[in-house]
Amino acid sequence: MWTEQDKHTLQEEYAITGETIPIIDLGPFLTDEPGAAQTIANEMRDALERIGFFFIINHGIPKSLRDRLVSATAGFYDLPLEQKMVLKVNEEGNGYVPTRGELPKTSPYYTGTRKPDVSECYLLQRDWGPIYRPTQNQWPENGSNFRTTVMEFFDAAEDLSIRMLPLYALALGLKPDFFDDKFPKYQGLNFLRVARMPPDRLDEDEFNVGPHTDSSFITLLATSDQPGLEILSQSGRWLKMPLIPNAFVINSGDMLTRWSNGRVLSTPHRVINASDTYRYSIPFFLHPTPDTVIECLPTCCGPDNPAKEPPITSAAYLQWFLEENFALGDQVYNEAGEQVTVSETA
Ligand SMILES: [Fe+2]
Repeated sequence: MWTEQDKHTLQEEYAITGETIPIIDLGPFLTDEPGAAQTIANEMRDALERIGFFFIINHGIPKSLRDRLVSATAGFYDLPLEQKMVLKVNEEGNGYVPTRGELPKTSPYYTGTRKPDVSECYLLQRDWGPIYRPTQNQWPENGSNFRTTVMEFFDAAEDLSIRMLPLYALALGLKPDFFDDKFPKYQGLNFLRVARMPPDRLDEDEFNVGPHTDSSFITLLATSDQPGLEILSQSGRWLKMPLIPNAFVINSGDMLTRWSNGRVLSTPHRVINASDTYRYSIPFFLHPTPDTVIECLPTCCGPDNPAKEPPITSAAYLQWFLEENFALGDQVYNEAGEQVTVSETA
């Protein structure tokens, strides 16, 4: 349990010259301390509007779960490539993507040649999926530990993200229960990305994850102990995110930016594993139910500040975003413009 004094020490220790990534202590909110929700929501408003990223501490997800998750993920990636390729990503976007099999295709945040990501990843949703589109995950046959541990984390990350929704509502000047009926458990378009990034030296303009923004309302990121995440601050600098033990990184994505009429930032980020060992990165992406209408929040527009975008359902938005921004598997092309199939990239 981090104390208030610890939080101040951490905040100073991890300060980045001239810029601060807020550290938000969820403890008082999760234990229903009177007044805590509004106080924390105020801190979150600053984080969401100024930088789009923050850390959470005292979040209630035990370190042992994160450690088991990293260990089970490492076990999965240690499987022979042929066994992983059996799980090759399907049309629903579930499954395995080998290294250089994914590309942020229209990212405006690249400054040089775009190259596919140097990382393996495994994408999943809930096995039964949201009601509008049944989905089926592809699990390794001898990977029961991987499957149960990954789904245990999926559950914990979903619970925590949903628990934080009143803080987002208060931060945006809405009633605390504003988002409650839009994110019922098991029915959101939520997914998890389980990635492994090698320690290999990268070429110029090459990344373990190329510069991009997320689609999400909330992204909750668990990683192993290797740094590598960099975020593009409003000052135009790429900031190296520090690693805070047992904290999670939270950021907002384009869906919340659109819903808030641009008030909440969706900050571009990228990953370069500069360590000498594999880095594991497991972001959970929270989205509302497929039929939720993303329409300028009442506190984010008015006569002097009209809605910048028309209403759109969550499902339609997410589909557009993914098609527009990411190429996966058979949709990846190399620098010469040639199609790179998933099997050839391995
Ligand atoms: Fe991301």
